[in-house]
Amino acid sequence: MLADVVLGIQHGDEAKGKVTHYLSKNKSYTHVLRFNGGCNAGHTIYHEGRKFVTHHIPAGVFYGIKSIIGPGCVISPEHFFEEVKELQEAGIQIHGKLFIAKNAHVITGTHLQEELGETKIGTTKRGNGPAYRDKYARRGIRASEVASLSSFMIDLYEEFHGDTSVKVLCEGAQGFGLDIDWGDYPYVTSSHCGLGSAFLNGISPRWLRDVWGVAKIYETYVGAKSFEPDEPVFQTLRTLGEEYGATTGRPRQCNWLNLNELQKNVALNSVNKLVINKLDVIRELGQFSLYHNSDLITFASEKEMCNYIVAQLPNNIEIFFSEDKNRI
Ligand code: IMP
Ligand code: MG
Repeated sequence: MLADVVLGIQHGDEAKGKVTHYLSKNKSYTHVLRFNGGCNAGHTIYHEGRKFVTHHIPAGVFYGIKSIIGPGCVISPEHFFEEVKELQEAGIQIHGKLFIAKNAHVITGTHLQEELGETKIGTTKRGNGPAYRDKYARRGIRASEVASLSSFMIDLYEEFHGDTSVKVLCEGAQGFGLDIDWGDYPYVTSSHCGLGSAFLNGISPRWLRDVWGVAKIYETYVGAKSFEPDEPVFQTLRTLGEEYGATTGRPRQCNWLNLNELQKNVALNSVNKLVINKLDVIRELGQFSLYHNSDLITFASEKEMCNYIVAQLPNNIEIFFSEDKNRI
């Protein structure tokens, strides 16, 4: 048994979907497992030249790999079936490939309603917080109780344990900067977005091989707190990087990379493969800055900036610099 984990180590929107899609194609997994979050997530995926935005459904379905929405997730049947329809219409085979853990929790119509007026922390209004709240208050509804979902049910103990050929890619949602415990509370999501979260989904820590941490060369955040400095350069960055929410269309606030946060999040999640995306965006912007130890450091070139980042990270980590235009 073997497990690799992909997770975001900023505030979501690091292009985890792209990394999961790439790994699904190349690493011969038997399963792809979403381990946290609900339809607040928006994973943008380019498959065979077409653009898809999935919210609930793991990227493995694009390659016919058994794809599972794990018990750490909350699921809106309404949004789930919309997504199923979209993928089926695009010719993606779902039958026998897409499953929901029977102990995952449900986002109900009431949860969705309840969030419509929410502005306090600027949620995605997808009922995520209310669904987790009711789960922990022991008054939630499990997926196994919803008749329309019955043909998708799976028991992850039976599925994963006892079969030595199991090779799972665990796909995180949101990012560690939005983690309920490690994020900037209360400007966080209601689930655990870090490595530990994957193991609450029937995965044994002993199966762990690689942890793919995904980041961008700059940062973005969507929500109510003030994150973007009041400087025109960030408006340009937003335009160049197309930094608008995949779920809500909201403009993402932009800022320079925070290297201390990156170091911390790499350490707390045992990241051994680090993907840093969107180099082409900052190249087009022509300003190469980051924060380190409360200083704003500006480099003469992209190369200098990348070398500096590499030098500040443990040398047993493999680092991949990637470009947005490399759509896989
Ligand atoms: P919620 O997860 O909808 O409750 O929103 C809580 C916070 O997390 C808000 O600031 C959202 O904008 C943010 N958030 C939730 N999901 C995502 C995501 O997939 N990408 C980026 N931000 C997200
Ligand atoms: Mg996203």
